Amino acid sequence: MRWILLATLLSVAWAERMPRLKFVIREQDRYHFEKPENYMTVYHKQGTDVLYVGGQAVIYMLTFTDKGVQDIKIPVVTNQNARDTCFSRTTWGKLECDNFITVIEDVNGTFVVCGTNAGSPKCWHMVRALPNNTLLSEVPKDGRMAPASDISPPFPSHRSISLSAEGSLYSALSAVEKQQGSIRRVGGAGRLIRTENKWLLSPQFAGAALISATHQHQQELYFLFSEINKTASVDEEPFRARIARLCLTDEGGVKNILPDSWTTFLKARVMCGSGNTFQQYNNIKRAYVLTAENRTGIMYGLFSNAWDTTVVCAYSIEDIDQVFATSKLKGYNSPLTGPRPGACTMNSTITPPNAKVLEMMRDHPEIENVIRPIGGAPLDLPTDDHFTHIVMGTALAVNGEHYSVVYLGTEQGKVLKVLHTPDEAFIISQFSLFHNEGPVLSMVIDSQKGHLYVGTSTEIHRVPLADCGRYGDSCRECILSRDPYCGWDSARKRCLAIPPGYNVSTGTLIQNLDRSNATICGDVRAMKSRPTVPKDVVVDSKGPVMLPCPVRSYHATYRWEKDDSNKHYPCTLSGTSCVLAPTPDTPMKEGVFRCMAVEDGFKQEVVSYRLVFNASPLPASLASSVGLCSVLLAAASLWLL
Ligand SMILES: *[C@@H]1O[C@H](CO)[C@@H](O)[C@H](O)[C@H]1NC(C)=O
Ligand SMILES: *[C@@H]1O[C@H](CO)[C@@H](O)[C@H](O)[C@H]1NC(C)=O
Ligand SMILES: *[C@@H]1O[C@H](CO)[C@@H](O)[C@H](O)[C@H]1NC(C)=O
Ligand SMILES: *[C@@H]1O[C@H](CO)[C@@H](O)[C@H](O)[C@H]1NC(C)=O
Ligand SMILES: *[C@@H]1O[C@H](CO)[C@@H](O)[C@H](O)[C@H]1NC(C)=O
Ligand SMILES: *[C@@H]1O[C@H](CO)[C@@H](O)[C@H](O)[C@H]1NC(C)=O
Ligand SMILES: *[C@@H]1O[C@H](CO)[C@@H](O)[C@H](O)[C@H]1NC(C)=O
Repeated sequence: MRWILLATLLSVAWAERMPRLKFVIREQDRYHFEKPENYMTVYHKQGTDVLYVGGQAVIYMLTFTDKGVQDIKIPVVTNQNARDTCFSRTTWGKLECDNFITVIEDVNGTFVVCGTNAGSPKCWHMVRALPNNTLLSEVPKDGRMAPASDISPPFPSHRSISLSAEGSLYSALSAVEKQQGSIRRVGGAGRLIRTENKWLLSPQFAGAALISATHQHQQELYFLFSEINKTASVDEEPFRARIARLCLTDEGGVKNILPDSWTTFLKARVMCGSGNTFQQYNNIKRAYVLTAENRTGIMYGLFSNAWDTTVVCAYSIEDIDQVFATSKLKGYNSPLTGPRPGACTMNSTITPPNAKVLEMMRDHPEIENVIRPIGGAPLDLPTDDHFTHIVMGTALAVNGEHYSVVYLGTEQGKVLKVLHTPDEAFIISQFSLFHNEGPVLSMVIDSQKGHLYVGTSTEIHRVPLADCGRYGDSCRECILSRDPYCGWDSARKRCLAIPPGYNVSTGTLIQNLDRSNATICGDVRAMKSRPTVPKDVVVDSKGPVMLPCPVRSYHATYRWEKDDSNKHYPCTLSGTSCVLAPTPDTPMKEGVFRCMAVEDGFKQEVVSYRLVFNASPLPASLASSVGLCSVLLAAASLWLL
């Protein structure tokens, strides 16, 4: 029979790599755009409830409150001349002839906003005069700020990255057509300097981060990008994933050598794949860096290969530091004397870099050693999901350790929440937030306030990082969730968020994050599953019968048992149900069918039905169950298609 075959195929997906739980979240804070925003730039200050979203000719200032989302729309219109020129000249789609906001940054207390302005970028200072009144004034051309075309790309489909650090604004523009791509300091306190063209090979930027240090002058910037070798032959991989490192104190070179360029620029190759196999993912699409004190921290990269399969690799900041601190420069064979190339100095104006070092930096921008992922391989995640975004947070668990929680946005508008430990990637849950299945276009995490913002072209949502109530009201459910933000309170019998400032030595919440093991809740053998009351189902003895069992944990195994559990029936996953369907070996007979879920050694009854054939007229007591019966048949008929 055809549907048995289909059922078998579907059950293949039934694996530990799946999210353990799947939630459909509809009631959270959300904002709907009046028109789709296919490109967006977001800005959020940690610890606030405001999210700025730059879209097409508008900036949305969204304030999330308990009573909903308040919006203020700040129009940022295109200059009419620029638009006319764009329409007459564009080789790009005319749809891009508008002012798409590409930069919203707070540069030492001043908001800088830039937009594509239909192919001729412009920047503004944004001032909030009254709570409800925002003014934009064009940035004056006084040399404190680079031309807008060095800060914003001319069209929104060209990826760019901006970053504000220590009073300066930095910008990275990807290469497009004749434009080379660059990393620049574009405004603020420091000198305006840039990369030499030959240092970057058609870069496509994926992310940037400030890496802080104990000594202020040792702070660095990381830029993550892919390079493309356009002359590579068809059977060669054209992409190389890269990390580039720069010092915040870099003030450029001297008159004849690197006068307007970085003197600390160095790049390295970033590998994502298993060992030295050919299975490498060379195109980095997104990156997220989280650093802590003393240059510890972690960087996550989202990579793809030629078949557009996406994977995630994690890197330790200490490893990256180590590689930059010890590697030879590519193509430079003389011994290195003096300070390490690329090392940050206190003040390059006082001690100008010497000419020989500058020449070496100019001609050898790459280091030889490559950077490899933690564990030597990508995280073990489902490969049928196409990821578009990544952010992460850390949670202080009740054992005093910090655990990484990675959030991944997908092409279908879903979000995966993943616990990443040195041993494994455990997919805590998948949530569906959006009415329309569009790709996730933006994600922002606010660890201070405990919020995650997720946006598609039609909606922006805010969800709590700790949403412990969803895991249910039993100790086992709470512990098996393995959510580092949540712990079981034995006294109040609830799954609760670990409160800020939780004292790990006196606190009483319990957790078990290192493996799926709920022994801490009590001995499994001593626990009894509560039986359910069978629902009556009356069906035609010759018709198809399919009984649904709601699936909660996708890591549990489900099966059906008839009467006193001496006969087992198979269970097939269909959407959010595990369906009992008769096979030639297990024909349907009248009796009580119980759906049992087994996880972590504990067998639990989920639902039960008493099946009765309607050969004889319906007894009055069963008449009420006919409604349920037809629902079951409707579900079943979908299966027979
Ligand atoms: C802004 O707020 C002020 C004071 O609350 C009010 O007088 C003014 O009308 C408001 N303006 C707009 C455009 O809503
Ligand atoms: C930031 O602004 C403050 C006050 O406006 C100023 O004193 C300080 O020098 C600025 N910092 C930088 C790095 O420009
Ligand atoms: C690009 O690929 C071609 C063909 O393999 C190779 O000769 C060339 O050196 C590569 N360019 C760079 C900058 O790696
Ligand atoms: C960072 O390093 C300093 C000095 O080496 C040390 O005193 C401090 O405890 C370290 N901080 C952390 C969080 O490890
Ligand atoms: C470096 O020193 C010069 C000269 O004393 C000073 O003008 C400049 O502001 C200093 N730069 C930094 C980044 O401290
Ligand atoms: C935790 O509680 C213990 C005992 O009351 C106390 O000594 C310690 O200082 C507390 N730790 C923190 C971080 O508050
Ligand atoms: C679960 O943990 C308990 C206590 O730590 C241990 O005795 C037991 O073997 C563990 N079970 C599994 C399946 O790992």
